[in-house]
Amino acid sequence: STQSVTVTVTGAAGQIGYATVFRAAAGALLGSGTPVRLRLLEIPEAARAAEGVAMELQDAAMPLLESVDVFDDPTAAFDGSEVGLLIGARPRSKGMERADLLAANAGIFSVQGQAINNGAAENFRAVVVGNPANTNALIAASHAPDVPAERFTALTRLDHHRAQAQLALACEVTVNDVDGVAIWGNHSASQFVDLSRATVKGNPAEEVLAERGLDRKWIDEFFIPKVANRGAEIIEVRGGSSVASAAHATLRHIRTWLRGTEEGRWTSMAVPSTGVHGVPQGVVSSFPVFCQDGDHRIVEPWEIDDFARERIERSLAELVEERQAVEQLGLLGPRA
Ligand code: NAI
Repeated sequence: STQSVTVTVTGAAGQIGYATVFRAAAGALLGSGTPVRLRLLEIPEAARAAEGVAMELQDAAMPLLESVDVFDDPTAAFDGSEVGLLIGARPRSKGMERADLLAANAGIFSVQGQAINNGAAENFRAVVVGNPANTNALIAASHAPDVPAERFTALTRLDHHRAQAQLALACEVTVNDVDGVAIWGNHSASQFVDLSRATVKGNPAEEVLAERGLDRKWIDEFFIPKVANRGAEIIEVRGGSSVASAAHATLRHIRTWLRGTEEGRWTSMAVPSTGVHGVPQGVVSSFPVFCQDGDHRIVEPWEIDDFARERIERSLAELVEERQAVEQLGLLGPRA
């Protein structure tokens, strides 16, 4: 359609923000048929840098970019917004306790949740990228009681892509030949990377791996940690955190959500639990999901064996703990 979409990008002067806005303006968000209006939100100290990003966007003379505006006020930035890419967050500084990090981010995401509640468009949808992403999404949703909770999601698509890529590498095929990986739980090292329903050229991935001498022990001790710790590995090897791959995953997350998954194929997204798969209702956990007509639907419960159950429970325990910590600080909003 030629109807434009209004997109608010937080942390727009940061690394992922910078990488994301150019590709969004080039059509990577919703395809080359959809013009975008970008609203860049930064903290006051970085608003000037965001102005510089806006200038560069102008300099690219992108046909799909209808407008770009810079804000340091969340209420103004989310006014009329239809898609929120919530990338900006407070990083952990030296000596910062986990509770301090949660509290600092709760401050950011509660204010943004309120701003969204006040002025975002009826069809608003958000992906939270800034860490701790799952809990930040929960906080934002709790402060936006008039927006359906399921419109607040968090990014685990990068983990999903990493799992696809590592499975393809292990089986010496391309990512086009692999399907059905799933990420469960928190976007953190505790995440469970599930290959139980994955396929390689249509065959069960675990069987294909076993034929190569790669057993359950390999999956548990090599494959899962490889995916879960990939961010740290990138920092070590590249000398900087994942940026382009994170921007790509963010764009794909929104595109899949709005344009739908292919028939019978799921993706991974952190969404508020509907209480299925033993995940407490409301906890923002990664699941395999189908997307259609702008909705996401958690894939129906399948039989989860003890191996998977134990790992999912471990990640859920972390999420529940994060929620409790925020709750105890009195930082959850009226929905909670
Ligand atoms: P960065 O530090 O380069 O950029 C963050 C930007 O956010 C900064 O420009 C900062 O000024 C801005 N910001 C901070 N508070 C803000 C607020 N209240 N409103 C608007 N803007 C605000 O960091 P980078 O590399 O771009 O990463 C961003 C976040 O994404 C981090 O929290 C990182 O941990 C997370 N991340 C998440 C991934 C995922 O898969 N979920 C993958 C990679 C990174």
